[in-house]
Formats: sequence, C-alpha cells, structure tokens
Amino acid sequence: MTSLVFASNNPYKIEEIRVILGPDFHLSGLESLHINEDIPEPYQTLEENALAKARYVYEKCNFPCFADDTGLEVKALHGEPGVLSARYAGPDKNSEANMQKLLHQMRNISDRRARFRTVIAYIDKDGEFLFEGRANGHIGQHACGEAGFGYDPIFIPDGYDLTFAQMDAALKNTISHRQAAVTKLTAFLKHKFST
Ligand code: IMP
Repeated sequence: MTSLVFASNNPYKIEEIRVILGPDFHLSGLESLHINEDIPEPYQTLEENALAKARYVYEKCNFPCFADDTGLEVKALHGEPGVLSARYAGPDKNSEANMQKLLHQMRNISDRRARFRTVIAYIDKDGEFLFEGRANGHIGQHACGEAGFGYDPIFIPDGYDLTFAQMDAALKNTISHRQAAVTKLTAFLKHKFST
C-alpha cells in the first residue's frame, strides 16, 4: 500500500480524495502529522500557493504529499476574486459576505462568465508536479440553493440551469473543478505506483 499525505485539515476533502484513490493508497491529512496551523498562502497565483503548501509539508514529513488551492475567476473582473476567493470580503473568510461583494461588483456587468479552477501540487523524491481542474460557468443574478459551500449559490455551471448549491453533492462532484484535478492526480499516482 502506498502512503500519501494531503496538506489539508478539511475532513470532507480528505474523504472525497480517499474514495477516488481507492484501497491501494493510504491517505493521511495534516492532523495525523500534528500540523494544526493554517499553512500560509501568501502568493498571487494558485500554483505558487499550492506548491508552497506542499513544500512546507514535504519538508516536515519527507513523504509523498500534495496540496490544493482553488479560486473563482470572473472573466469581466480580470480573474477576480481568484487567489483571494476565501478572503474576498475580509480576513474572516465569510462566504455570504464574499458572495454579496461579488454580486455588487458585477451589478452593471452583463458578461457573467466565470470558472472555478483548482490546482494540486504533488511532491515526492522525483520532483514537483502540478494538476489542474476547471469548471466553466457563469455568475447568477442572486444566490440560489442551500447545498455546498463558498460561492456555490451564485455559480451556474455550463450545461445546467442550476447553481452548484441547487445540486446534490454527487452531481456537483461529477462536474467540479476539484474532481477534475483529483482525477488527474489519481491517474498519475496509479500509473506511478503500479507494479
Ligand atoms: P480552497 O483553496 O479549497 O480553500 O478554496 C478557496 C475558496 O474558494 C473557498 O474558501 C471558497 O470560497 C472557494 N471555493 C473553493 N471551492 C469551491 C466550491 O467547490 N464551491 C464554491 N466555492 C468554492
């Protein structure tokens, strides 16, 4: 069995990835390494932040590990909120305030195209590898739906008339940015560690 560390303390994300990886991999989160602090994400790109988190953990544990970073990128706002998605309206990571700020910024904008982008950085003794997943869509006029988290109530993926927050988790997972990135990572790992 191959052991991997995911630089996250989010049990929802850890379980989601554990299921996709399957029984040949043993996935641990940061808790098992007794890393309880928020690893800083000081950079201007998702790629740099994901790499910084993965390097931080790799230096501590010297074990194959990976980290992710996600942003919502609005075309007419030149990619905002992007890397600032979690803290768009302030340091307290308030999803409701973030959505209201974004809706306000877009009040006079008719081009509402947007995408979620997830970057995963993986590190082991052979080097550093990046994997990207995207979900294209647009920003609704107001919040709709109760499921999910973050900007889900205002993001309508292409091909649907529903926001992510109006979908059940199973449907969202088949089309989400995170799923797309994790699927690429999983294919890479299965190939690398198959004997
Ligand atoms: P993280 O890098 O996964 O922590 O994501 C950063 C921020 O992007 C989160 O705090 C959310 O505001 C937003 N975000 C990430 N993934 C999603 C999603 O699937 N739906 C809605 N918002 C998301």
